[in-house]
Amino acid sequence: MQGLIEAAVRARENARAGFSNFRVGAALEEAGGRIHTGCNIENATLGLTVCAERVAVWKALSEGSRQFTRLAVVADTEVPTPPCGACRQIVWEFCGDVEIILANLQGRSERFRLRDLFPRPFDASFL
Ligand code: THU
Repeated sequence: MQGLIEAAVRARENARAGFSNFRVGAALEEAGGRIHTGCNIENATLGLTVCAERVAVWKALSEGSRQFTRLAVVADTEVPTPPCGACRQIVWEFCGDVEIILANLQGRSERFRLRDLFPRPFDASFL
């Protein structure tokens, strides 16, 4: 778990967060152990901003990865920052009920299953 958090801490350093100054790092682990990282990337058209979690998911999917086990999210907040609603939807859709590890820079961490953070999701089973 510590290695995954450390990967997210390092990814956070690459955040392009000049509008909010709120830097986030994410690290998504594949079933085989490979780690895909992401950071938030903001845009002057603020709505085009992409969260760290989604960057990690898009990177992993575009590399052909399909099975995931854990996602770590790191930000510099006292209470570890949880993924936004849009990211919960995307992670649910592409990663399933993975473990979500939230951590801050002081070493505080919390663990959840995505199904507990995102109850009663809308997904492909309704289509
Ligand atoms: N952000 C993330 O990257 N992940 C989260 O879990 C919460 C929010 C980013 C989006 C935006 O760049 C900044 O944090 C402030 O909302």
